Amino acid sequence: MALRIAIVGPGRVGIAFARRFVRAGVDVLGFVGRDRARTESSIDGLGADRANLKVLTWPDVHSAHVVVFAVGDEELPAAIAAATSVGGRHCSLWLHTSGCHGLDVFAKAQRLGVRVGALHPLLPFSGSVPPQSMQGALALLLGEPRSMRLLHRLCAQLELRAIVCSASGSSEHNRPLYHAACALAANGATALFGLASELLQRAGGIANDDGDRIAASLMHAAVAASEQHGAGPALSGPVRRGDAETVAAHLAALNAEQKTAVPAYVALMNGALRLARDQGLAPVDCERIASALSLLRPTS
Ligand SMILES: NC(=O)c1ccc[n+]([C@@H]2O[C@H](COP(=O)([O-])OP(=O)(O)OC[C@H]3O[C@@H](n4cnc5c(N)ncnc54)[C@H](OP(=O)(O)O)[C@@H]3O)[C@@H](O)[C@H]2O)c1
Repeated sequence: MALRIAIVGPGRVGIAFARRFVRAGVDVLGFVGRDRARTESSIDGLGADRANLKVLTWPDVHSAHVVVFAVGDEELPAAIAAATSVGGRHCSLWLHTSGCHGLDVFAKAQRLGVRVGALHPLLPFSGSVPPQSMQGALALLLGEPRSMRLLHRLCAQLELRAIVCSASGSSEHNRPLYHAACALAANGATALFGLASELLQRAGGIANDDGDRIAASLMHAAVAASEQHGAGPALSGPVRRGDAETVAAHLAALNAEQKTAVPAYVALMNGALRLARDQGLAPVDCERIASALSLLRPTS
């Protein structure tokens, strides 16, 4: 059966999904947006991939087999309520792309007889860099059993690799905690990259581009080793060696040159200390590192 898809939210994720669905030959009807002009302009931005996409109203959504809600986390309940107020096509699949919400947000819509699910793409869509290929990235699927087959099919059309969340209710899957972990891994890594690059430039003698290359190279190596062996075994550096003097020297340099980086350094090195302790760092060395990390409070 040829699928017809309507997308609610012509933003970063909605547009990226539309582009990929159109390229996969799926019949994308168009977008429901909050503002007609902004929605038209987002559709125009798809260029050759705009196909026959139109600005949709809620009643138009009725003819879709799949409704993708790609609105912000705060706006999702209102968008679903607006859609629910005009009814739903029996057995159509309503899914959202939010990492923060579970399926509870669809509670009223389920009474219309629609199937529900969530397809959370596990990659960043920043909007300010050229759209990256989704090919091979992961997506976490959450859904009623009767939604899963179609969720898998949509994932394949988006060229995403599915991971299935086995929880059947919100008591078994702490969605905000899951999303906090995703935000740390994605946005936290971006922030860490930015901070490390900035400090490398401040250190002097290193060209800006080289600072980015150094940060990227170290982060790639650390992530690759952690993925292969686990974070504990992959840990290296002064905390792992129990070298408290070096840690103290780092903190003194940061305090002198970039005070705002001190809390980040302390928080992350305390995390490293927990890993090092689990890896067998001697208690006396753990004590010395902990005391070096607690000695310095940034001065104003
Ligand atoms: N960005 C990412 O990296 C990423 C990754 C994975 C998952 N997600 C999830 O995907 C969802 C969308 O994120 P995004 O980054 O694409 O957000 P976004 O760029 O801010 O886009 C949201 C879009 O939804 C529209 N909108 C808001 N309320 C609406 C409503 N009631 N009816 C119709 N349209 C409405 C907004 O229109 P206006 O022009 O009026 O604002 C905007 O076009 C979020 O749940 C997010 O958590 C995002």
